Amino acid sequence: MFSEEQLSEIRERVSIVEYIGEFVQLKKAGKNYKGLCPFHQEKSPSFIVSPDRDTFHCFGCGSGGNLFHFLMKLDSLSFPEAVQRLAERAGVQVASSGPADPKARERRDEAFEVHRQAAWYYHCLLKNTPKDHPVWAYLAKRQIPESAVEAFHLGYCPGQESGLASRLQQKGLAREVLEKFSLYRGRREFFRGRLTFPIFRHDKKVVGLGGRLFQEKDEGPKYLNSPESEIFKKGELFYGFHLAKAEIRKRNQVLLVEGYLDVITLHGQGFTHAVAPLGTALTSNHAKTLQRLEAEIILLFDGDSAGEEAGLRALEVLLVQGVIPQIVRLEGGEDPDSYLRRFGRLAFEKKLQERRNLLEELIDKWSASLPRGPQALEQKGRAARRLLALIEKLPDSIVQNLYRRRLAEGFDIPEDWLRGKRPLPERRPAQAARPNERRRTWLPEEETILEVWLRFPSLRPEILARVEPEDFYTEELADTVRAFWELAKTEPYGKTGKYLEMVPESLLEMFTELTLRPDGLDEVGAAQFSLEQAVIRLRERRLKEDLQALRGSEDPEKLHVVHEKIQALSLVLKNKARIYGERKN
Ligand code: UTP
Ligand code: MN
Repeated sequence: MFSEEQLSEIRERVSIVEYIGEFVQLKKAGKNYKGLCPFHQEKSPSFIVSPDRDTFHCFGCGSGGNLFHFLMKLDSLSFPEAVQRLAERAGVQVASSGPADPKARERRDEAFEVHRQAAWYYHCLLKNTPKDHPVWAYLAKRQIPESAVEAFHLGYCPGQESGLASRLQQKGLAREVLEKFSLYRGRREFFRGRLTFPIFRHDKKVVGLGGRLFQEKDEGPKYLNSPESEIFKKGELFYGFHLAKAEIRKRNQVLLVEGYLDVITLHGQGFTHAVAPLGTALTSNHAKTLQRLEAEIILLFDGDSAGEEAGLRALEVLLVQGVIPQIVRLEGGEDPDSYLRRFGRLAFEKKLQERRNLLEELIDKWSASLPRGPQALEQKGRAARRLLALIEKLPDSIVQNLYRRRLAEGFDIPEDWLRGKRPLPERRPAQAARPNERRRTWLPEEETILEVWLRFPSLRPEILARVEPEDFYTEELADTVRAFWELAKTEPYGKTGKYLEMVPESLLEMFTELTLRPDGLDEVGAAQFSLEQAVIRLRERRLKEDLQALRGSEDPEKLHVVHEKIQALSLVLKNKARIYGERKN
């Protein structure tokens, strides 16, 4: 974790306007800056950056937060990664996540260095190999141009000792280190006789390699990959992501394919938003990364039955994160790479246009292909049950219900059959629903109080004195409000951007909108008045509810309480009248 001093030092040293200005053309608009949102496509600017508050917000797509949030979203980073990146820029020393001791850090740097050097060495070997060598013949056969060899840093590890070890020794990297990361196994080179595919992290650091056999006569698995290590986590990485990021943002779309070569061919044909997992099934970490991109996910899995199964497994993992992918099915057992080479990019583009929501597609496909015969009904039941199980992975109950209805229609059965004997599992949405729905769940009083809190640091002590975190009704606000109140004990006037760090991702949009919406409170007198009103209303609401609960009770003790409550309420209402009255004059 990072200390508060480190974070505020970063915040102080990196200007949000300057930093975001490197990615977005910002124009001054009053106290704020305006520009075209980098997170969705728009023609007129609705992206606002506030230097006073250290925040940004887009009124088009709703994204917002502070500088850390900006970077997290822009490059799909975790919070610690974003802090790390900004710390480097600000020249602030922060311990990277993990052990803070310099030894561990050195080891990590060494791990990055070994992979970078190895990838580079094999790449150079390939380029120095005569063009009539079988490795080049293979690349030509697969129609991999030299530009792709460059872009993906492809390399070649010859069948006999390549000299990697002695070369890296000159660079101060010991043999043991090469063995530790399996570049050598014993005396022999791990990737010998293979084309090498460096695997880059999002920030272009090489963290592992893949190696493919390319000669019929060679034996062994088609691909070998570096084993997992402290820097190589297969369940979190996508092949090609470092090159795809920008295009993903631009198109708001991700093409998810299965193989390295699919990614390479797609990129070569202009589909530079393609990525692939590293030969492993999609993990929930992968799914979370995809979910954070807030882009449309298009699955392009191989047209064979293995591809079909992989698609189903990926679907399940994605649904849990609330992501419903689209699917493109390539006929004839083609994979994206072979399809593109065979039919060309226009045909492929057309295929993409024909993409379908995978859940709906499955409902239609399975209901249309039910077998006849003695077991027809059981089969139909089982198919419906399997789809229902998928639908129930969705975190949002409304969306779940919509698909349940769709399933009932597709299978031509009454919807309540899909509820069966099992009670509907009550799940809280993991990721928040759309903002409009959310909006309705917050009380207007709560919104006002938070808006004043975020916009007028000078009024925070007043709020602290009059409102307790427990006064808030809305469950999903509880933790955030408590954290705000806690921080305000030491830093009542802290910048809004700092407070936004305590807001969970699912609520961030609402909070930044409160902070920056143009029709919001912008004058301290008006803010004070709104605050006063909100506090009173909140209390009135609470008292009325208490009274409601006590109504009908004969217990003298309770009646006494009722009496007190009524008195309190009338006092509150009197106050209210006074305030409203004052305002009218
Ligand atoms: P594919 O067999 O689809 O590979 O496996 P590909 O990349 O399309 O390569 P070509 O077209 O056959 O030459 C998909 C992914 O599964 C992993 C690799 O990550 C590969 O890109 N894989 C495959 C392995 O890790 N080991 C293997 O033996 C095979
Ligand atoms: Mn392939």
